[in-house]
Amino acid sequence: MDEIYSVILVDATWMVYRDDGDEPVHTCASEQDAVDWCATDASGDEPRIRVYQGDVCLLTSQHARFRALLKALADTDAKDATRAEIFATLKAELIAHETIEEEILYPALQEFAQAEEIVAHSYEEHHVVDLLLDELVILSFADPAWGAKAHVLQENLEHHLGEEESDLFPKAKRLLGAETLADLGEEMDERCDEVLAEASARPDSKAVRPKG
Ligand SMILES: [Fe+2]
Ligand SMILES: [Fe+2]
Repeated sequence: MDEIYSVILVDATWMVYRDDGDEPVHTCASEQDAVDWCATDASGDEPRIRVYQGDVCLLTSQHARFRALLKALADTDAKDATRAEIFATLKAELIAHETIEEEILYPALQEFAQAEEIVAHSYEEHHVVDLLLDELVILSFADPAWGAKAHVLQENLEHHLGEEESDLFPKAKRLLGAETLADLGEEMDERCDEVLAEASARPDSKAVRPKG
């Protein structure tokens, strides 16, 4: 039987997976190199090579936005009037992001045994982030512990985003395939708008979703 390979772009690196393996068997800098490597590696004449170029729909761009908001938040101090606004925006968008991952992407991935562990791990990382968000809400912005706690939130969140981008998203591309991911992406986009609209309708919220 001809072998099946998945060639996946993660950040700027092309990673090659064999269909029966869970770890990349080759990494390189270009799609063509990756495809050529598969052809050389395969024992059969016509290996099937599936190439996934795109990001996981809107999730990766939301990650970039969180990194920017976390940095902006870290640059504030207790006297800075923008601290409350940046935090409210980050919190609302983060909750919407977690919601669409937990309601749509994670359950779809949980159907596959190879993804069970990373999905369970990701739910727990969301839980830790939620606990930190709840504690930051209760604490006064003027409290000296606020900045330290926000820094721990930044560390935890950046770790989680990196893990999704390097492990969970590539698995999603391989296991779900481009067509299903595109469908899920539309579903997540709609649900994200709903959750953000509910959040901004609450009187205590100043969060507005960025356009584009
Ligand atoms: Fe997540
Ligand atoms: Fe995420």
